[in-house]
Amino acid sequence: MPNRDLAAKRLLAVTEEELQRIVLDIHDGPVQNLFAALSQLTLLRSRISAMQPPADDCITVVNRTINLLESSLGDIRDLLGTFRSAEFTTRGLGEIVEDIVIQHESFNSGRVALEMDGALSQPVSMPVKIALCRILQESLSNVRRHAGVENASVKLWMEKGNLVLEVADQGRGFEPPPLSGPHATERQEHIGLRGMRERAALVGGKLFVESQPGAGTRVRVEVPTDE
Ligand SMILES: Nc1ncnc2c1ncn2[C@@H]1O[C@H](COP(=O)(O)OP(=O)(O)O)[C@@H](O)[C@H]1O
Ligand SMILES: [Mg+2]
Repeated sequence: MPNRDLAAKRLLAVTEEELQRIVLDIHDGPVQNLFAALSQLTLLRSRISAMQPPADDCITVVNRTINLLESSLGDIRDLLGTFRSAEFTTRGLGEIVEDIVIQHESFNSGRVALEMDGALSQPVSMPVKIALCRILQESLSNVRRHAGVENASVKLWMEKGNLVLEVADQGRGFEPPPLSGPHATERQEHIGLRGMRERAALVGGKLFVESQPGAGTRVRVEVPTDE
């Protein structure tokens, strides 16, 4: 394997380790403090409730603050869950993909139609697993946030020495920015699409985004497996 490829693959594994460290740091630091703040406020609320004359105004403010904290903690929990370690070293690609789909369905009301080629039982290198799974998560998150529909389909198969992953929805679609060539987007607001493109490129693969307004979206990534 050329040195450049080796470096790219190591980078992907390091990025994943960094991501896991961030997830843990958020979980062990700010999340614990937010929980502590929540319990202090709950205590404060019961003290205020016992006050004479009743301090209804104060209780309203405290309740509002408690609700804000609870909903932020819920959002953070979902986010950390999405990026929790997928145990890439010990589990197969098919198994992790199934898990991601199940997790997505458990957080959303829509269904994801999953089709996987039986031939996928062959081992897939860790960088390829990481790249494909993170691309799948970003694509499903885009369906949820942008497509305006709840259902999606996910397909994973082998074709001419490539592993191919396709995530499609029949939602509102959009005008995709160029992802390759001299005019390829580097815009801040395309960070998700750029991240997918970079992850595919790091394992020698390619990302295609087919979409147009009103006609749904199809994200396809092709990664060579011949190593
Ligand atoms: N499945 C989709 N359906 C409709 N629009 C999409 C979809 N995926 C991406 N987009 C559009 O492309 C933009 C860029 O996506 P992305 O780079 O993932 O950034 P973000 O999700 O943070 O907005 C989105 O803001 C949205 O307008
Ligand atoms: Mg996105």
